[in-house]
Amino acid sequence: MKILKWIGIGIIVILACIQVVRPDRTNPAVDRGKTMQANAQVPPEVQAIFERSCYDCHSNQTKWPWYTNVAPVSWFVADHVKDGREELSFSEWGAYPPKKADHKLEEICEMVEKGEMPLESYLILHSGAKLSEQDKQTLCNWTKAERARMAVAKLDHENNDDK
Ligand code: HEC
Repeated sequence: MKILKWIGIGIIVILACIQVVRPDRTNPAVDRGKTMQANAQVPPEVQAIFERSCYDCHSNQTKWPWYTNVAPVSWFVADHVKDGREELSFSEWGAYPPKKADHKLEEICEMVEKGEMPLESYLILHSGAKLSEQDKQTLCNWTKAERARMAVAKLDHENNDDK
């Protein structure tokens, strides 16, 4: 039994020590003019899904619950948010060139249809973020409509340039 006691103490000491390594958990300022809402036509039902299921990792409006303060959880969460924002940020959408935005829209539908997003690990503590079949359909219908809208806008733009 003595050995178990020492293992227990060892684990507590290690957990206490690793708290020193504190990853960056910040939310950069949101420039309203750069958000997806300001630069795409997002219906409220689509916006609601993004806010509920994606914003924590793909925007500058991440919510950081208390357990994201505690290592090693803090390390994983901060890493997901950093990578998530780099891949896709609803707060930086306006800075994406049209080709990139079009590709990201395609990816959004693909990722949710395949069940790869939201990340599995996130759903353990955020069961409300799970997407229903209806949610997935709503998102994919919208990404298709938005891509078509962007393509038409581009054509209009090119035609105007010819004149
Ligand atoms: C817990 C954090 C987290 C949540 C929540 C989350 N994502 Fe992600 N997402 C990531 C990370 C990390 C990556 C990059 C690594 C990867 O692809 O696994 C990523 C990558 C992506 C990509 C890939 C971009 C590309 O061009 O390859 C898309 C698209 C995406 N996510 C869409 C979504 C959508 C839509 C939602 C909500 C329905 C969502 N994600 C929810 C963390 C998250």
